Amino acid sequence: MKKTIFSLLLSVFSILGLRADEGMWPLTMVAKLQDPMQAKGLKLTAEDIYSINNASLKDAVVRLMSKQGRMFCTGEIISREGLFLTNHHCGYGAIQELSTPQDNILSNGFWAKSKQEERPANFNIGLLRKVEDVTDKVLNGIAVNMPESERSKAVTEASGKTKKELEESLGAEKSNYVVEVVAFWGGNRFLAMYYEVYRDIRLVGTPPENVGKFGGETDNWRWPRHTCDFSMFRIYSGEDNKPADMNKNNKPYEPKKFFPVSLKGTSTGDFAMIMGYPGRTTRYTYSEGVRYLGGKERPMRVQVRRDIMDVYEKYMKQDATIRLMYSDRLAGLGNYWNKFNGEAGELSKPEMFEKRKKVEREFEAWVKANNKQDVYGEVTSLYDEVYQKLNQYGLYPVYLQDGIANSQPMTFALQSSVLVRDAKDGKMGPEGTKMAERMAGMLDEMFKEFHAPIEKEVMASVLRHLYEDLDHAHLPASLTNLVTKYKRDYNKLAEYIWKTSMFTDKAKLAKFLKAPNVGKLFKDPIYAIVSGYNAKLNVDLKPVYDDINAKKARADRLFLAGLSEMNPDKAMAPDANGTMRMTYGTVLNYDPKDGVVYKEFTTAKGYLEKYKAGDFEFDAPPALLDLIRKKDYGQYADKDGELHTCFLTDNDITGGNSGSPVINGKGELIGTAFDGNWEAIASDFGFMPAVQRTISVDIRFTLFIMDKLGGAGHLLNEMTIVK
Ligand code: ARG
Repeated sequence: MKKTIFSLLLSVFSILGLRADEGMWPLTMVAKLQDPMQAKGLKLTAEDIYSINNASLKDAVVRLMSKQGRMFCTGEIISREGLFLTNHHCGYGAIQELSTPQDNILSNGFWAKSKQEERPANFNIGLLRKVEDVTDKVLNGIAVNMPESERSKAVTEASGKTKKELEESLGAEKSNYVVEVVAFWGGNRFLAMYYEVYRDIRLVGTPPENVGKFGGETDNWRWPRHTCDFSMFRIYSGEDNKPADMNKNNKPYEPKKFFPVSLKGTSTGDFAMIMGYPGRTTRYTYSEGVRYLGGKERPMRVQVRRDIMDVYEKYMKQDATIRLMYSDRLAGLGNYWNKFNGEAGELSKPEMFEKRKKVEREFEAWVKANNKQDVYGEVTSLYDEVYQKLNQYGLYPVYLQDGIANSQPMTFALQSSVLVRDAKDGKMGPEGTKMAERMAGMLDEMFKEFHAPIEKEVMASVLRHLYEDLDHAHLPASLTNLVTKYKRDYNKLAEYIWKTSMFTDKAKLAKFLKAPNVGKLFKDPIYAIVSGYNAKLNVDLKPVYDDINAKKARADRLFLAGLSEMNPDKAMAPDANGTMRMTYGTVLNYDPKDGVVYKEFTTAKGYLEKYKAGDFEFDAPPALLDLIRKKDYGQYADKDGELHTCFLTDNDITGGNSGSPVINGKGELIGTAFDGNWEAIASDFGFMPAVQRTISVDIRFTLFIMDKLGGAGHLLNEMTIVK
């Protein structure tokens, strides 16, 4: 069966004239899209966008990665000296870390006057150097009827082995590379992505927060928009242009390709292309999944997040230092609180369910009519079982993620489980002892953004959600006993825990880590709760989750293979999976509802309309208001005399695309993508051509802020500006 499915997919990809309005297309499919793209106004060839052998646009696109290797955003190189642009909300964490109450560049903004003034930023970037199809390697020897648990083990092993082999094949370059083996189309195909990872990244400049995040959570995911959501960094390399550890003697990286910047602006109908790193979509979610997510999972996550955000906001409004300390956490929580809230609304609409159901009915009918029951017959029943189980057990892992992981003391306790990993007869082992030493060295870092009153209230809130929302049968006694003892008074409970636990205070934890011992750790109330919770998930309920995951993986894989076999003429874009994609479309307005049309761009006039002095979200720098009132836009004004701030295109993007280059038909940069719109907030579950829009900062707004507000016009000298 593997073979059939595989060759069928191949035949799908070889069909020309794809219907490609929807889709975050893998680079390997770009060649097939040249015709439809040129028909929409692309003046380049597919080879200019993605070439295996020559420098192409993809070489100017960067993948933002945490020091630990987690991909989080996109950026674009705009000079031959490694200068790159991304969103403000992507640079936010790094900017916050570089800020102090005395030198608050997050709120004041910052521009390095020379390269010497650029400041080390705490993340890496990856440059995609090579893509390789490794399907045969990964699926080699995997039998059609292998039980799913065996299969997934074999696939994981083969992926790991392939990754290792490919990394080894890099020889001396290995230490500068990350190779990822990634599943496409529900695990029907596997591609290896080679990233060269640069480790010396420096902040060049950022607008003040009330410009880079103007509109805050109120405007987030909404149009019309006036946020100038950008920040600028530079890649540094060793003498040989290769990655190097942070060192002041490093030199600016010289890219294979960078984007020229267009000052010409856009008009309705103009071609627009976006390249970047969309994180995750699940466009083929089963109907019952849509119902579960919309009716239960998303609404619960919204509540858990909202309650934590309320605590943050209460304290942040009182004190500027605390505001700085928690701003990044609040932005992260808020962004998806907002999105999940919208998704809950959309996914619980009966139309959503019906739309998926219709596809599934057609699929089932096709399976029957073509006698494919032996291959695809189990898909719907597998899904039914999966979602019935998820209804019962789905929230436990979610609460670990959105609840426990948002409480810092609880996270510290979770990390401490490593301390006892190799303990024997109540005595810590060598690994644990070493870990204790490491943790002791990290204490300052751990408690750097930790305000005890906030953390205490957050913990009370998390404990309340765990106990009140989840079935007690699957909660650890370490939690239920305490809740009973404190008669569900979670503030009192948190108070007690606060006094007794060592994870709530740096000095207490330091003392413990000096002479760590297993007994003391086990007696700690926070440790007991989180390790008990973890044990429920990873021991008691493990068979349940293994079963859910295995069935879902099987159903996904078969469903995707079946759908493509059923629609041989339809190009199916694979779900986003953190790999580079290209999406093309045009500059376009939309009708959000009956009787209303939204224009496809905004101007600085809206800044004045929205401005509210002293507001948490809508304040603005006086100097900017001044420039706008005087219409002092210089070369950044549109031909209509206004300063265009943001614009809309119908490109298909999602989270991870933040910071992506928006490119015109000639391959010039016209903007930086930073958001989606409210009407299509559930687009990860289905493309919505009529209303789905990408919101981007107009590059002229970015340069205006950099030059006229930031006084960093000198940076234009290293860019290629097209007037
Ligand atoms: N919605 C944007 C995205 O996910 C992020 C915007 C960040 N701003 C904010 N107010 N949280 O790409």
